[in-house]
Amino acid sequence: MAVLVTGGAGYIGSHTVAALLERKEDVVIVDNMMQGHRDAVLGGTVCVGDLRDRSWLESIIENHGITEVIHFAASSLVGESMQDPGKYYDNNVYGTLCLLEAMRHQGVNRIVFSSTAATYGEPEQVPISETDSTLPTNTYGETKLAMEQMMRWFDSAYGMKYVSLRYFNAAGALPDGRIGEDHSPETHLIPLILQVPLGKRDHISIFGDDYPTTDGTCIRDYIHVCDLADAHILALEKLRQGGESSIYNLGSGNGFSVKEVIDVCRKVTGHAIPAIVQPRRAGDPAVLIASSARVQSELGWSPKRDSLEAIVGDAWRWHLANPNGYRQ
Ligand code: UFG
Repeated sequence: MAVLVTGGAGYIGSHTVAALLERKEDVVIVDNMMQGHRDAVLGGTVCVGDLRDRSWLESIIENHGITEVIHFAASSLVGESMQDPGKYYDNNVYGTLCLLEAMRHQGVNRIVFSSTAATYGEPEQVPISETDSTLPTNTYGETKLAMEQMMRWFDSAYGMKYVSLRYFNAAGALPDGRIGEDHSPETHLIPLILQVPLGKRDHISIFGDDYPTTDGTCIRDYIHVCDLADAHILALEKLRQGGESSIYNLGSGNGFSVKEVIDVCRKVTGHAIPAIVQPRRAGDPAVLIASSARVQSELGWSPKRDSLEAIVGDAWRWHLANPNGYRQ
């Protein structure tokens, strides 16, 4: 009995692997290492390869006695997805099809899926509920929605049960500092801000200060990566206990503007962090805040690390110790 974690060398994947290892689970990681880092994987068996190599994937599932899958492997850059949509359909949608077919052939019928708030597009209301309409405004969100829908039809046809977790803005790092966030290229707000006190950039750009929010900058719901990892464990337990397929938002329910996030980073790092207002970035909704009422009532999940200072503090500890990211 072992859990297969696809994309387990990536940011959220590696923190979930750490949480699984903490619980003494047997973990097998598959990652093509295009974006993942070998040093981010704290244990388990690492298999380097691509989901789209279906016979290879089936042999991993068979040889390691896989009983459940947690599926992170995907391309996840919104801007790139608009420039190169084919890459996203191939890696994300076709990759997931290969995974589900391999699971079906090997009799594995439980999967926890890494989804995103980008499935909603421009929100129809705030906070956003799982029952709200899903009209993605970028190819990345569209492919994640297609992957969710594929799972729904595999459940209907073959009884394959899934829990899809729609994350809002993942941030932070393992509090003991062993692993953290290292994207290349980096596009996320908090690691970019922290590059200023690290001396790697001289200012942070604020993408637009004319949004209909209190200070004019975009508001997001930042959630600690370890809280996300905990939700995957609860979802896995739900499926092991015979639970039905479901979709859950994962957010704190609190919104912070870009300017507020920069202020928290100034406080945590003790650095002035100059900020320069730039034009809006295309496709950014003004406000994205989760309602996590469903996951709280059905899985008993709520964020344990919900102060933004604590989230930034954990991120800062990792970046200070690893200013150039992972070695590998
Ligand atoms: N921002 C800046 N300056 C920067 C970088 C970001 O002002 O240098 C702003 C963005 O415009 C946005 C906010 O900071 O308003 C957060 O931006 P991120 O790129 O960190 O995160 P997003 O909200 O764009 O992205 C998140 C998830 C994605 C998901 C997306 C869906 O991280 O995986 O929501 O909208 F696809």
